[in-house]
Amino acid sequence: MRVARISAHMFEEFVKGFRDPLLSDLRGYLRWMRRMSILKTFWCSDWNSLGYLGLMDSGKLVGVLRALKMKVIFHNHGAWIGLRERGEIQDIFFSKWGVEYLREILPKAEKIFLKRGLRDFGISEWKPDAWRILEEYGFSPYARSVLITWNLRKEIPKSGNRKVKIRIASRKDLKKLRRIQLGSWGFFIPPSFKHHIILVAYLGDEAVGSAYLNKYTGNIDFGVHVMREFQRKRIGTAILHSARNLFKSLGFKKMYVVRVLRTLSKVNESDRIALSFYTNCGGSVLREYRGFRRKIRPRKLRVPELSEYIS
Ligand SMILES: CC(C)(COP(=O)(O)OP(=O)(O)OC[C@H]1O[C@@H](n2cnc3c(N)ncnc32)[C@H](O)[C@@H]1OP(=O)(O)O)[C@@H](O)C(=O)NCCC(=O)NCCS
Repeated sequence: MRVARISAHMFEEFVKGFRDPLLSDLRGYLRWMRRMSILKTFWCSDWNSLGYLGLMDSGKLVGVLRALKMKVIFHNHGAWIGLRERGEIQDIFFSKWGVEYLREILPKAEKIFLKRGLRDFGISEWKPDAWRILEEYGFSPYARSVLITWNLRKEIPKSGNRKVKIRIASRKDLKKLRRIQLGSWGFFIPPSFKHHIILVAYLGDEAVGSAYLNKYTGNIDFGVHVMREFQRKRIGTAILHSARNLFKSLGFKKMYVVRVLRTLSKVNESDRIALSFYTNCGGSVLREYRGFRRKIRPRKLRVPELSEYIS
């Protein structure tokens, strides 16, 4: 077996055979990923491409991956102590998953990282078969995140609260947005007026919910928010209906949201609520990302199945 750098075109042609719904057009995918990096999660934070690797067996391409340089964001400093930048591997596709293929291709990727001064690297992987093999090869999960999608041709299966009025917000509504997020998940992430169409849900005169619609990706950046005392009144559902209509009017066929799970080994209550909300309102899991790094845990971690989060 032999590992070599390959062109983006070769990578794309190989990957097409796997019929991944996001990766049908490499350019579009990279453009989308670039815009998704506003989320600053472990699999989509500011990145630069370091190229593509191919694994050949008897002259035939049997595996590929993308190598990236990624910024370590502040809330991930715990996992990457002392590093400001790291290597990142994504989109590994093998004709068949096995430790023997990893053993060939990963050292070559690591060489590329070391040449760039990147002392450590992570692998973001969403294919369940791959998770098992990565663990077998000596990697363990350190982060987990779920990418959920809606087909915008389909209706949202629940009706929203009819008393709710949704309005588009501007800079003068920042205080309201802060208040909503402090009352929903306890901290505030300000919107980007360049990237976002900002929805605010009102019950009477009171602003009680919000969502940031990313006009470049179709993603609801940082999710839907409803203040605690107003939850479970179908306000979140009303926001999702508006988000769907707005994205449709912008020409999107799909809408997305990303939930980064707070813990790896236990079902966290706020993760359970968020995942139940999105999936019961018609969203389906497109990718469950697990971030892997070289094993730091002596024992295998039990990671609960996503079905355990949905009620
Ligand atoms: C997630 C959130 C937006 C849901 O908003 P909401 O207005 O309370 O949700 P809705 O009343 O519209 O619920 C719609 C459906 O979602 C599901 N759901 C909502 N809350 C739920 C809960 N606590 N437990 C289980 N299912 C729940 C139910 O299926 C519900 O349908 P039902 O009314 O027939 O039972 C809200 O809980 C929230 O702001 N959470 C904190 C912030 C957060 O983490 N947001 C997600 C960021 S990724």
